[in-house]
Amino acid sequence: MTVLEAIRKRYSCRAYQERSIEQDKLDSILEAARLAPSARNMQDWRFVVVTDSQTKRRVAEVTNRPDVFAKAGVIIAACSNSDYVMRCGQAIGPIDVSIALEHICLRATELGLGTCWIGAFDTEKVRTILGIPADIAIIELMTIGYPADSRPEPKREPIKKIACYESWKF
Ligand SMILES: Cc1cc2nc3c(=O)[nH]c(=O)nc-3n(C[C@H](O)[C@H](O)[C@H](O)COP(=O)(O)O)c2cc1C
Repeated sequence: MTVLEAIRKRYSCRAYQERSIEQDKLDSILEAARLAPSARNMQDWRFVVVTDSQTKRRVAEVTNRPDVFAKAGVIIAACSNSDYVMRCGQAIGPIDVSIALEHICLRATELGLGTCWIGAFDTEKVRTILGIPADIAIIELMTIGYPADSRPEPKREPIKKIACYESWKF
């Protein structure tokens, strides 16, 4: 599968088979995250991979789709332990973690797995459930699992609406 094929195939999977993910697949997915670029190569991302059904259920309960996400093979809490701000004024934590998460999505897609980004969750409840320290930012959750749905046609703006050449022309 080419990178573009994986990008085209990825979608937000919101129905999962209740089936665990093989450890070699999880290892390969985490390897894709490990190889992601990060500002100053700080690699200040930390991933809590939840496979235990009861813990998954507890985490899913504090998201916007408890019944859907509880069935995924894993839920990953993607965290950052950096508060470094780049000269451009942007914090690296959410950027670096998001790049690694998209690597996760694409590798999972290549392995026939579905993923969903989850921003709608109660941070403090996730922190308590997973024992994540107060100084660690929980950037996003992500489900990974065997899909029980299929990809809908993506709704996207045309390139001319989102990109221009040489100077700002929007
Ligand atoms: C940062 C981020 C947060 C998101 N949070 C949620 C969420 O909490 N729940 C959910 O069902 N989908 C969530 N999504 C999925 C988006 O709704 C989805 O990516 C978008 O509608 C495009 O659809 P597609 O992923 O199927 O191409 C999130 C996506 C991103 C990138």
